[in-house]
This record gives sequence, C-alpha cells and structure tokens, in this order.
Amino acid sequence: MVPRSYITCLLTVFVVLVLLPHTHQLQSSQAWSLLRIQRLLNYPPVLSSWNTSTDFCNADPNPYLTVVCYEESITQLHISGSDSSPPLPLSFSIDSFFTTLTRLPNLKVLSLTSLGLWGPLPPKISRLSSLEIVNMSSNYLYGAIPRQVSSLRHLQTLILEHNMFTGQVPDVLSELSLLAVLNLQNNTLSGPLPQSISGLQSLRVLVLSSNSLSADLPDISGLTNLQVLDLENNYFGPQFPRLQRKLVTVVLRKNRFGGGLPADLSSYYLLERLDVSFNKFVGPFLPSLLSLPSIRYLNIAGNRFTGMLFQNTTCNDDLKFVDLSSNLLSGNLPTCLLSNTKDKVVLYSSNCLGIEDHGQHPTSFCQTQALAVGILPHQEKRTSGGKKVIAIGVAVGIVGSISIVGFAVFFAIRRGIIKRLMKQPPRRIVEHASSGYPFKLLADARYISQTMKLGALGIPSYRSFSVEELEAATNNFELSSFMGEGSHGQIYRGRLKDGSWVAIRCLKLKKGQTSQNFNRHIELISKLRHRHLVSALGHCFEYNLDDSSVSRLFLIFEYVSNGTLRSNISEGGQRLTWIQRLSAAIGVVKGIQFLHGGIMPGFFSNDLKVTNIFLDQNLVAKISSYNLPVLAENMITMVSAGGSSSGSNEPGGRLKHLDKIDIYDFGIILLEIVSGRPITLTSEVHIMKDELQESILADGAARRSLVDHFIRRQSCDESLKTVMEICLRCLSEEPTQRPSVEDVLWNLHFAVQVQESWRWDSQSSEDSPLSPRQPPRSPVSLN
Ligand SMILES: *[C@@H]1O[C@H](CO)[C@@H](O)[C@H](O)[C@H]1NC(C)=O
Ligand SMILES: *[C@@H]1O[C@H](CO)[C@@H](O)[C@H](O)[C@H]1NC(C)=O
Ligand SMILES: *[C@@H]1O[C@H](CO)[C@@H](O)[C@H](O)[C@H]1NC(C)=O
Ligand SMILES: *[C@@H]1O[C@H](CO)[C@@H](O)[C@H](O)[C@H]1NC(C)=O
Repeated sequence: MVPRSYITCLLTVFVVLVLLPHTHQLQSSQAWSLLRIQRLLNYPPVLSSWNTSTDFCNADPNPYLTVVCYEESITQLHISGSDSSPPLPLSFSIDSFFTTLTRLPNLKVLSLTSLGLWGPLPPKISRLSSLEIVNMSSNYLYGAIPRQVSSLRHLQTLILEHNMFTGQVPDVLSELSLLAVLNLQNNTLSGPLPQSISGLQSLRVLVLSSNSLSADLPDISGLTNLQVLDLENNYFGPQFPRLQRKLVTVVLRKNRFGGGLPADLSSYYLLERLDVSFNKFVGPFLPSLLSLPSIRYLNIAGNRFTGMLFQNTTCNDDLKFVDLSSNLLSGNLPTCLLSNTKDKVVLYSSNCLGIEDHGQHPTSFCQTQALAVGILPHQEKRTSGGKKVIAIGVAVGIVGSISIVGFAVFFAIRRGIIKRLMKQPPRRIVEHASSGYPFKLLADARYISQTMKLGALGIPSYRSFSVEELEAATNNFELSSFMGEGSHGQIYRGRLKDGSWVAIRCLKLKKGQTSQNFNRHIELISKLRHRHLVSALGHCFEYNLDDSSVSRLFLIFEYVSNGTLRSNISEGGQRLTWIQRLSAAIGVVKGIQFLHGGIMPGFFSNDLKVTNIFLDQNLVAKISSYNLPVLAENMITMVSAGGSSSGSNEPGGRLKHLDKIDIYDFGIILLEIVSGRPITLTSEVHIMKDELQESILADGAARRSLVDHFIRRQSCDESLKTVMEICLRCLSEEPTQRPSVEDVLWNLHFAVQVQESWRWDSQSSEDSPLSPRQPPRSPVSLN
C-alpha cells in the first residue's frame, strides 16, 4: 500500500508538472500585445530590450519602463519616451493602439508619457475598466476629452497634462467618485469649469493651469479633501473662488481675479503656498497671511493691494519666499522679513515702502493710485446689483461666442500645426516645466487600491474615526482593553457600536506635526486591504487644542481572533494539520505578493515573523505589522515619500533583491511550519537549515525525523519534500539564489496538489472518516 501511494504521488508529480503553467508566466496573449505595442510605437529606444523571448513580468523595472504583473496578467504598464519625442509618423493609428491596449484588461496603472502619441483619445479607453491611474502626459493628443472616460469607475488619477486637448472640461467627470488627482495642465481647454466639478468628493489635487478656461469657478467649498488647487494662467475670475479652509496650495496666478481677498483666508491653517500674483486684486493686504501657521510661500506681486505694513508685524519663521512687489503698499517692511535673508527670498520693489532705493515710489503715488482704485469690496457689492447681473450676462455671452469662434479657428490652425510638426525634425516641443509644484503629492497618487477585491473581503470600507468613537469602543482606553505595547505605542482592543471588534494602534507623535504631514501615509495605509493582510479599517487624529497640531494618531485594524500562526503550530492550542499549514503558508505568500506588487510603491522588508501572522476563524492567514510607513522609522521602501533617495527604486518599486528579504523571512516561517519547533534565535535557523539539507538528501524515514511528529503521518513524502526544498532555497544566504514570490507560490500549490491526490488515494483504502474526500488533481483553491 505504501508503494502504491508513493507511485501515485510520483505520477501526480509528473502529470501536474506537465499540466500546470508556471504562475509567474504571463498569458501569452498579453505578451503578444506588448510586442504589438512596441511595433505600433515604432520601436522606440526605451523598448529596445523587448523581443519574443523577453520575460516581461520579471524584467528589472527602471524609471522609463516598468511592467508589473499580478498573478498572470499585466496590472501596470509604464513607458516613458524622451522629453523631446516628436509625434509618431502619420501611419500611427491611436485607434489600433488602444485596441491593443484593451487586450490587457486588468491594467490598473497606465502611464504612457512623452511617446509622441497623436490623435484624439479614443472612447474605447472605457473598456479598460480596471484603470485606476492614467498618465498620458506630454503627447500630442487633441480633440475633446471623451465623455466615456467617466465610465472608468475605479479611476483615481487622471493626468493629461502637456497635450493639445480642446473643448470644455467634460461635466461627466463628476461621475468619477474616486477621482483624487485631476491634472489637465497645459492644454487648450476653454469655457467655464462645469458646475458638476463640485461633486468630486474625493478630489485632492486639481491642476488646470495653462489653459484658456474662463469665468468664475463653481462653488467648490464642498470639496473637503481638496489640498491643491492650481489655476495659473487662465482667464478665471473675477470672483475669488469659494474654497474650504483645509487647502494646502492655492495658485491663482495670472488670471482675471479682482476685488479683495476674502478675510477668511486668514483661517486657512494648512495653507503652505498662496500665489495670487498678476491678477487685478485691490483692497487691503491681509498681513495675517504672513503668520499663517503653515505658510511657506506667499506671492501677491502685480496687483493693487493697499495698506500700511508695520515693523512689528509677525511672520511665520518657515516662510521661504515672499513677493510683495508691484503693489501699493506703504509703511515699513516687517523686520521679521528682513532677518535670515539667506534662506529666504523677500521681494518688495515697486511699492511705497519707507526703504531707500529698491525702486520704491513716493508715498503720494500709492495714495493717489489707491484712491483711483479706491472702491472697497463691500461697497462695490451694494451699488446697482441689477446692472451688474446684466453686465455679467453680456460678458459671459461675449466670452462664449469668442470661444466658439476661437474653437473653429483653433481647429483650422491645429491641423496646420500637426502637419508642420510631422515634417519638422525632432525638437524640444514639450517641456516638463517644473513650476515648483508639489509633484511629490501628485506622484503619491500612484498607489493602487484593491477596491475590486475588497467587495469580496467583507471588510467595511476605510474611513476616519472620531476620538469619541474610539473612547467608547475601549471604555476610555481602560486597562482591560489593553492588548500590548509595541515599539511605537500601545495596542488596544475595542468594540465598535455595530458590535464588531477592532484592534487600535495608538501612536504618539513628535511635537508640532500637522495632520497634513500624514496625509500621504494615510492614503497608502487605506489601500492596505487584502484577504491575507490584517487590513486597515481607518484612522483617527487627536489634535492639540492650542495649535491644531496632531498629538496622537490612531490606526484601526481588523481584529483577528484565532491566535498567531505559532500558537497554532508549535505552542499548545489547536494544532494545524499539514494541509492547513500549507494553506496558511500559501496565504502568507499571497500576502507578500500583494505587498510587493499589488500596491505602489511596493512594501518590502516587512519583518515577517511567525508571531506576526494571525489566523482568523476560518484559519485564513493574515500578515499583521507589515512595514507600515508611519511606524517604520526607516522608510527605505517609501519610494516617493522621502523624495531624495528614490533614484533606482522608481516606479515598479521592485528593487533588485529587496524583495528577497521577505523571502528569507518566509523561509524561517516555513521551517517552523514543517518542524513544529518554535525558532527564536538566528543560530537555530542555521542549525536547522543544515539538518534540513541533510534530511532532504536522506531517504523517506530519515527525512521525517525533522518533521513535526504531529504531521508526520498526515503528509505525503513528495509534498513534504517539495516544501522542504523550497524552504531551503528561501534560506539561501545569497539573495539572488532565493526563489521569487511566484516560484514559492507555485511550489506550495504543487505540494498541495500532490498531497490532495495522495490523501484521496490513501483514504480509498484506509477510509479515514476525518478528512473529506477529494477528487484527484482537483484544482487547488486555497486563497
Ligand atoms: C532578446 O533580447 C535579449 C536581450 O534583451 C537577447 O539576449 C536575446 O538574444 C534576444 N532574443 C532574440 C530571439 O532576439
Ligand atoms: C505695532 O506698531 C504700531 C505702530 O508702530 C502700533 O500701533 C501697534 O499697536 C503695534 N502692534 C503691536 C502688536 O505691538
Ligand atoms: C506647454 O506645452 C507646450 C508644448 O506642448 C510647451 O511649449 C510649453 O512650454 C508648455 N508650457 C508650460 C507652462 O508647461
Ligand atoms: C506622469 O508622467 C510624467 C512624465 O513621465 C511624470 O513626470 C509625472 O510624475 C507622472 N505623474 C504621476 C502622478 O505619475
């Protein structure tokens, strides 16, 4: 009987080897699509490494070319040409190009920049329904932005900057309820901004600079998540837009805004950058802007602001740039602006300040000019409202007809331009003008959420909690709800109103931090939701009452109730069977796979430990305390957060070997799973690894000496051997010799497959009532 099952085991090995594709291999149709894309793009230098034998999923990513796969298909495609790419030849068809793209149906991130793409953006882009991030900057796309973009329901980031789009900003964009970043900078969009934009509840970044947009903005004070508003170089105005107080960046430079600044600007406590330069603003300057708690950059140049400045005016110490020039200010320059002039730029020419030289006008000049400007904003409002409405109506009418005419003229001209562009030799047409912009912010919007998978997860959606709610859940953080203390703070167990249990991590923060400092981390944390992670449910800031800085940050996680993996293997409690252990191991690897490739930037070096893997009531393994950016002092894996050391770990985040640290740690977990002995010291790992090596070479009986006696009888020799071999490879000292995540996963699935068929076979003679019958070679679905 033993020989018979052994033979079945071997037979299965053979059959399975023949039948199973390697999981890290791309579907051949997708590989084919990539090669077609290469051809349609006219074989650009950036794709020169692609040929029929390229292993797309495992090629090293670089800042210009990255392909990321999850399971068997492509989820991210980044191709970036050179800055000066001329338009592709006339034979290029944007339509065929997108038809090819639609053969990559699982694409979540599509970044095709500076590739010379030309033509109208095809409506069929809507077929790429998984898209979360689209960056098509610096191409020659023209025509209207297709309405069909609005059916990309998962879209979070849409960047179409530096193209030639015309027409209005489509009003249907408001259907993109997850849209966080909209950047349409430097196109030829015209007309007013649609009213519906005020419904984009998730919007964080709105960049519309360098277009021909006009008229007053709709009321966007309801966009409570908006942090960056950049309208530079358009025809917006005259009313100052209605905004909310939590903005970080407001750029209204070079528009047609008039009237006075709203007094409530002085309460924008998160405002770091305010640029209202070169408009037609009048009325008193608000000196309190200089002392806003977060202000770094203030530019009011080229308006007609009036008023006296005093030497004793206070300013924020962190101000780096102040430009007051070309206004009608009088009095004295505040002394706080004069000190530390080394790291601070302060410009104030062409005013009437009491300073020798520096091109100041005599005070009388400002006085007469101020009188000429002379109308205070609130008086203006009172005068003849009726007439004004008519006047505005007429103005809008005129602007409207101008834009219709402009439209037709532009169309005619554009054809000419395109033809010219085609003929001209390559030249630097597209510039990546760095407007000193928080590109970090934009870049961070590249995280991918697993929203689609979440539905199946059954976890409530991520949200922010209130301190009161957490106090109620933990009985005021009572001792009985205290679970433990980590290096960064305590963990409490809480029960929410709806009866569900949660784990609450309470982090004490360094002084003087604003919630702003954490926004990017929070955004990333909110995406850390996966079946095999102890997923994040939300966060909560506790503020200092005096200066609105953050005193504590709470992170709320699922509460996973069934103990750690160790407590289910090598310490008392219930003991997992071999097949349950394999299933848990597969879960852990899937969690690692998600951390490395399912989010961006990937999380590496997650300090995986058997005591950090938790099991839920269905024995699903979940990784807890992965490399959380807020918790990790050393932010080696946060590609864009630091901004400085990014260099090589650009977009895919799959740095060479970085992913292999987790593989090693997983090897130790696997060792404990097999041996059933708690491993606490590094020296134990070395000793056991040697034993493992010997026992793999030894015959069946000797091999089993290392194996937990509890599972010895339950496991098929071949299945054990496969796991031991992959374990040994994971523990290779040399990172390059450790297997890839996919390789590990494949081997574990294989071990399950072999085990299942062996079990079926041995039961047919032994008829053990304990384990349910399995048909042979049933497809494994242990995820
Ligand atoms: C494919 O490209 C690789 C280098 O990128 C090269 O080593 C290999 O020979 C090429 N194969 C074919 C069939 O051209
Ligand atoms: C600042 O100086 C002006 C006149 O020099 C004075 O009227 C004002 O009270 C002073 N303000 C403070 C806060 O000292
Ligand atoms: C906008 O794009 C055009 C070409 O597409 C380029 O010449 C110009 O410098 C860009 N302007 C800004 C402000 O980036
Ligand atoms: C979009 O692509 C451009 C050009 O490659 C890049 O500079 C920019 O950072 C990208 N934006 C995002 C949010 O990825």
